[in-house]
Amino acid sequence: MNPDKIICPCYKITKGMIADAVDQGASTYKEVKNLTKAGKACGHCKKKVKKLIKKLQS
Ligand code: FES
Repeated sequence: MNPDKIICPCYKITKGMIADAVDQGASTYKEVKNLTKAGKACGHCKKKVKKLIKKLQS
């Protein structure tokens, strides 16, 4: 995984930032969204963020 890859272009949220949020205890898309802001604008990244959270938890 490339941690610098941007998952949410609206807020320039990277995979690494999502991983940090999950490390900090966020386990759902909603929690990750609240921590990182990913998905708070257009919402187009929602699917990608959800998929990544699943992957990080497996
Ligand atoms: S791409 Fe994430 S809110 Fe727009």
